Amino acid sequence: MSKQKSILITGCSSGIGLCCAHELKQRGYRVFATARKAEDVVRLQEQGLESLQLDLASSESIHQAVDTILELTQGQLYALFNNAAYGQPGAVEDLQRHVLKEQFESNVFGTQELTNRIIPVMRQQGYGRIIYNGSVLGIISLPFRGAYNASKYALEGLADTLRLELYGSGIEVSIIEPGPITSAFRKNAFVKYQENINKESSFFKSSYEGMEARLQKKEPAVPFTLPPEAVYKKLEHALESAHPRAHYYVTFPTHLFGTLKRLLPAKGLDWVLRKVSKEEN
Ligand SMILES: NC(=O)c1ccc[n+]([C@@H]2O[C@H](COP(=O)([O-])OP(=O)(O)OC[C@H]3O[C@@H](n4cnc5c(N)ncnc54)[C@H](OP(=O)(O)O)[C@@H]3O)[C@@H](O)[C@H]2O)c1
Repeated sequence: MSKQKSILITGCSSGIGLCCAHELKQRGYRVFATARKAEDVVRLQEQGLESLQLDLASSESIHQAVDTILELTQGQLYALFNNAAYGQPGAVEDLQRHVLKEQFESNVFGTQELTNRIIPVMRQQGYGRIIYNGSVLGIISLPFRGAYNASKYALEGLADTLRLELYGSGIEVSIIEPGPITSAFRKNAFVKYQENINKESSFFKSSYEGMEARLQKKEPAVPFTLPPEAVYKKLEHALESAHPRAHYYVTFPTHLFGTLKRLLPAKGLDWVLRKVSKEEN
């Protein structure tokens, strides 16, 4: 690259964010690898990354991080990778209002607040790339993932709308839709399950027992799981192609369910998804 390109990535403490931060640094980008917790920022700095704290649940944290980054780059930013998120497990009927709200605070509201803070910078430059990390669960739904499903569907809506609104601005908007990827996602989801779901009083008590085992498995819980590098490949295309795609599918399950969603009537797809869900537990 002639002029060093800069990128802000959220959620670099583990998994996809961590992998992409290292890969892009190696490729010559100036990477701002942000993380929610102070101890992870220190760890990332020790790994040679430029790291700052950014918690999507806090407006103050978002604005502080962006101010610092823009100071370091003389007000420029080539790209934003909206990667950070967590999965709140639990049946929809067991989700208390504040739990659903928290899920959206991180995955949706914080992500969009950050994006909206960056858009004027990119408009001013006349170029930029905004890439969301969505999910196959923003295309189809699975039981006991309602909060997460809803947050990822919301990102699909925001990304698709933003792409229409930014047409002609020089800013490209893409959304990557991974299926199962090895990361700390299940471990983090299990913590949220324990924090926020009361199994004992739930109609779904026995289903939760199966889910607990799946969330605690060390090895990949589902077939066709890929490493985070598979997401990185799509990110690289979204960043560097003259014609980045609107949507990037990653893993066989995303291709399969993306296709089935277009082909099957809703109840036919429900049948498939109930079967898949049964086999998971
Ligand atoms: N793994 C999969 O199978 C899969 C599939 C489809 C989509 N995705 C998506 O891929 C993205 C990355 O997930 P991953 O698989 O790499 O899981 P991960 O290892 O759990 O990484 C998630 C990252 O998001 C961060 N995060 C959570 N809440 C945050 C907040 N409020 N503010 C800032 N950071 C926050 C986590 O930080 P802490 O460590 O501080 O919690 C962590 O760094 C997510 O958007 C996820 O939905 C993952």
